[in-house]
Amino acid sequence: DLPTTFDQPVHIAVIGGTGLAQLEGYEPIALVNPLTPWGYPASPIAILSHNGVNIAFLARHGLHHQFAPHEVPNRANIAALRHLGVRCVIAFSAVGSLQEEIKPMDFVVPDQVIDRTKGIRPFTFFEGGVVGHVGFADPFDKKLADIVKTCAAHMKGDGVVLHDKGTIICMEGPQFSTRAESHMYRSWGGSVINMSALPEAKLAREAELSYQMICMATDYDCWHSYEDVNVEMVIKYMQANSQNAKRLVGGVLDQLSKIDHSDLVQAKHWEGYSTGSVKFM
Ligand code: ADE
Repeated sequence: DLPTTFDQPVHIAVIGGTGLAQLEGYEPIALVNPLTPWGYPASPIAILSHNGVNIAFLARHGLHHQFAPHEVPNRANIAALRHLGVRCVIAFSAVGSLQEEIKPMDFVVPDQVIDRTKGIRPFTFFEGGVVGHVGFADPFDKKLADIVKTCAAHMKGDGVVLHDKGTIICMEGPQFSTRAESHMYRSWGGSVINMSALPEAKLAREAELSYQMICMATDYDCWHSYEDVNVEMVIKYMQANSQNAKRLVGGVLDQLSKIDHSDLVQAKHWEGYSTGSVKFM
């Protein structure tokens, strides 16, 4: 019965991953499902009110987890958020750990990414006459990362462990890695691995959104032992950790809604193109 249109600005968004398909404890004030030039987003976007600030929540894999990582409509997701006025995105993801010290249930705020998707996912807004090349040397947003780190530090007493940097490998999937690949990613300096960081982070950059991923380790991938990663393991740890994940996102949203986030909200203007040339809606 919620309104399906919303015309106030929404600057902050959370993209939920596996195990975080909704954000409880926030009052939904609208549920919008905008049709973008790239189709509908993976799920209707819930607009939540928090300390009088509007927050958009989008379930990356759909409300019923119906989109496999290679099927997620990333362009529609990002375009729909942009259309709502979103300027900063906190994105959650379950990840495998590639390092002994990153234990299942630990959180990681990555600062780098290595693209191991296979180029089969639509990965850019810039095509069909719109030519643009955005910088991606630092794929994540340092200011958002700092907020996440501060919030996690406050939860340390409750056993929340957060690694404040790391390289995420984004693989194509949907199959997990071979042992040889897993060892190779470790030799590359990979910290964690998932199937969802890209092209989401690239599209967010093209759409001039500040973007930071928060990773939750659910397994040690297959390099670690002969107990190979499987979906049951991922879901078991996700569920065990979902309370902490929800508390962490709650803390981050408290901060984001309190601070003057006008500098986060500020669009980055890329040389050589203006977002005006991409019609997000
Ligand atoms: N997501 C969660 N665990 C993963 C793993 N080991 N590899 C790829 N994606 C994952």
